[in-house]
Amino acid sequence: MKKPVIGFSKLDKSQKIDWLIENYFSSNNDVKKIIKEYFNKNKKLQNLHDEFAENTISNFYLPFSVAPNFLIDDKLFTIPMVTEESSVVAAASKAAKFWLERGGFKTIVLSTEKVGQVHFFYKKDYKKLKEYFKKIKSKLLSDISFITKNMKKRGGGIKDIKLINLTDKLENYFQILATFETKDAMGANFINSCLEQFSKTFKENYDDPSDVEIIMSILSNYVPNCLVKAEVSCKINELKDESIKDPKKFAKNFIRAVKIAHIDKYRAVTHNKGIMNGIDSVIIATGNDFRAIESAAHAYASNNGTYKSLTKASIKNNIFKFSIEIPLSLGTIGGLTKLHPLANLSLKLLGEPSSKELMKITAVAGLAQNFAAIKSLITTGIQHGHMKMHLINILNLLNASDREKLKAIDYFKSNNVNYNSVNTFINRLRDV
Ligand code: MEV
Repeated sequence: MKKPVIGFSKLDKSQKIDWLIENYFSSNNDVKKIIKEYFNKNKKLQNLHDEFAENTISNFYLPFSVAPNFLIDDKLFTIPMVTEESSVVAAASKAAKFWLERGGFKTIVLSTEKVGQVHFFYKKDYKKLKEYFKKIKSKLLSDISFITKNMKKRGGGIKDIKLINLTDKLENYFQILATFETKDAMGANFINSCLEQFSKTFKENYDDPSDVEIIMSILSNYVPNCLVKAEVSCKINELKDESIKDPKKFAKNFIRAVKIAHIDKYRAVTHNKGIMNGIDSVIIATGNDFRAIESAAHAYASNNGTYKSLTKASIKNNIFKFSIEIPLSLGTIGGLTKLHPLANLSLKLLGEPSSKELMKITAVAGLAQNFAAIKSLITTGIQHGHMKMHLINILNLLNASDREKLKAIDYFKSNNVNYNSVNTFINRLRDV
């Protein structure tokens, strides 16, 4: 049985690696080799990465890719994407090119409000609490002025604070619900600092502070009022291309496919997963928090009580329209955005966008990804493109040489890709 380790974080990197090998691996050589192969030779850069997290022993690389030809509100973008899924960037690039020739993507930021809560319990008279909140509200706001000073200079700050009574759902439970404008910052640290100061001021100034039991002060990642919409549209007969032979039938089936994701949860989750393939890739490339974005998106997808598609499709007056509405709380300053050299580069590639602009670009990546997935699903089938992209992974698993890869790519242009077929093909090559 393995023994727990005490003081692991105090060990230096090589001691941590030795401990791992001793406890989890039977042989030392390969493990050390793999771990060290992924060290960066540039010591300063490696140190920066080590300090992003605790107990770092190496780096875990993901491909950093770009998808060109995104025409967004009449401006051309090349979008940085970080993903390990082989078909995602190819699909995004194809969708970008498809819509480039049909007027591009149109976007609008509908709102930019962030939310935070102080959760507390209070057993005494509600009327007294209400009056106290009214009285203390201005002090709550003035006590955080040392935190909001810089944010105010940038046009942000607190929008409102409210007392919320939730005692009908949980005995004695109340909230201070605060809304924020954080401009180009995602704002998590700003919001949490304001909330912690609210809770301090709120409790300390009450007649008997022990009547107010603060449970926690934390931002909410649910941001239904930090919303962006992206859309594409064209005449139905313009939908024609090499895989769409009958645009009318394509448009009709496309709408059916989106409708299915509105009424069936099993399909909706996969449909939205495809959207998040695009969204997360941009979020990671720009140093934003993909867990926050994921949880907000899925909560928003079920905001009327049933989980459903984040995209909509329609045909009206012979015009095909496809759109997404998604909450995206993003930052283009703060966090990792300037600190991670590739996140910084991504933002430069996008022309140093404001957070509103990044919301638009990210929503477009999600819409493009969903368009590409549905287009494949209702025409060629998804495996056609997926397996073509996956071929190279199988070839790498089989340690194929460059010459073998070229031969295989050529052969599998017109043959079915799966592990066995590729393995047989490579073995046959090696036998001659
Ligand atoms: C695969 O990562 C994503 C898809 O399954 C999305 C979808 O089915 O819409 C292709």
